[in-house]
Amino acid sequence: MNEETKKTISEKYERELQKGERFWPDSIFKDVVVSLGLFVLLLLLATFVGVHTPPKADPSDTSYIPRPEWYFLFLFKFLALYGQIPVLGKIEFIATVIIPGAAILVLTLLPFIEKSPYRHYGKRVLPISVMALFIVSMVTLTMIADIPTTSGTDGVYVAGIAQTIGGLVVPGLAFLGLFIMAFTLKQKAKKGMIWTTVIASVLMVVFTGLTLVYAPTVEAEAAEVPVTLPDQITAGQDLYSVHCVECHGDDGSVSVIEGVEGLEGEELTPINSRDVLYTITDSAMQEVIAYGRPTAGMNPFGKAYGGELTRSEIDYIVTFMRYAWDDRFEMPPVKPLYPALAEGEVPSYDVHIAPIVKRYCISCHRAGKENNNYLMGTYDEILHSGDNGPNVAAGDPESILLLTIQGTPILDDNGDELIGTMPPNKQLKADIIDVFLRWVMAGMPQTAEEAAALSTAPLPTPTP
Ligand code: HEC
Ligand code: HEC
Repeated sequence: MNEETKKTISEKYERELQKGERFWPDSIFKDVVVSLGLFVLLLLLATFVGVHTPPKADPSDTSYIPRPEWYFLFLFKFLALYGQIPVLGKIEFIATVIIPGAAILVLTLLPFIEKSPYRHYGKRVLPISVMALFIVSMVTLTMIADIPTTSGTDGVYVAGIAQTIGGLVVPGLAFLGLFIMAFTLKQKAKKGMIWTTVIASVLMVVFTGLTLVYAPTVEAEAAEVPVTLPDQITAGQDLYSVHCVECHGDDGSVSVIEGVEGLEGEELTPINSRDVLYTITDSAMQEVIAYGRPTAGMNPFGKAYGGELTRSEIDYIVTFMRYAWDDRFEMPPVKPLYPALAEGEVPSYDVHIAPIVKRYCISCHRAGKENNNYLMGTYDEILHSGDNGPNVAAGDPESILLLTIQGTPILDDNGDELIGTMPPNKQLKADIIDVFLRWVMAGMPQTAEEAAALSTAPLPTPTP
């Protein structure tokens, strides 16, 4: 620094000093006001936006896949991309220790590498460029953290190539370029460094955009975590419907198993009885479900024992069982299975039949179960599948499905039973049978709109 600049700076300093702003209490007061503002903001956010509560941690859940907090996702993604590099990619500690370590070191040493006494940004190109690149790559890596690095199958995977270029190659080359320029060209490197930073940032943003555009669309999993008690009960009931109804019935009252291969006629204690609910505690119940009763024919359901259900899913089932059947617990209001039908209103598959089938039929009528190949997972399957299908015909009251759910078995030519009553273990309630009847007789509309078009019900009068 030459004498001239030194002089101007100290003059400026003197002038500021004259104007006078003391650290105590002037500056401190400003700090207090800002802190108070932030505190109030936090209070408001906590009150009106709330904190998202993740599901309870479960130390015994071996199926849990850990994910870093969002502010570490960029490192996580970096590691994933780095793992793609041939040979080097196998040496994990380079990405987990050496590179982040070097990056932190560079950021720490930057003030010592770049000792310019000036504060004007035009004179601090290297640190600003390095920091800008850091921030852009952190943001872009975080944005693409959820997108798989490979497609899993062979073939060109655009999102994979784009993210490798945008997340690894571009920032890597840019950092290298910056430091080479800074140390070889010194003062003359300013323009080059600015351009490198700008171009690299634009490229990173463009490749991130490409990655997002070409990302495989993941089936929106029903990953919504039920938080409220009624939601947990509903989730538990849905799981119970799929996994347990075949043996225990929709209300846990089955005492003799019917229609289940290998367990026909097996006797069991109804699991909705006090005998079971009062003697088995919640944790013991979770264990029974997780481990099953293999000797009696109930296979394990817990992932830890090779089943399909996670710890929290089993939790929801137990919650459902308690609130629905245990008279010591009072059931909170939960949404009805389907909206009640008015006189002359036609039910639709989407709104009425699908939830009913899910609750009462799907546990047996899905792949891998004894069911005459009658799968009931979709509209088309219900209409067309089945060894004796079609089991429903528009307007036909003699449809196999309608007869069996009303308690009439289907007999073969010799008078032997071909298809038993459905569901085998317990007859459906009259209002549910009525929904099936109305639906088949009206022509089996799929959507609510189609059903509305067939309905003769007077439209609900709009409230003035
Ligand atoms: C393949 C048939 C089958 C399925 C599916 C099944 N169970 Fe069982 N379950 C049984 C049998 C058999 C027993 C033994 C009954 C006994 O010992 O009285 C049993 C016992 C139980 C018991 C203990 C009853 C007691 O008296 O100790 C509970 C609780 C239970 N099951 C809950 C469930 C739940 C919840 C599901 C769904 C996740 C389920 N079961 C799925 C067949 C099944
Ligand atoms: C406990 C298991 C179980 C449940 C629950 C169940 N089914 Fe079945 N279903 C079967 C079995 C097993 C068959 C094969 C025929 C038989 O053994 O009677 C079958 C066959 C059928 C068939 C004849 C398929 C064909 O093409 O031969 C229809 C229709 C049917 N079920 C309708 C239903 C409906 C509707 C529900 C729900 C309300 C339901 N079932 C619930 C076990 C079940």
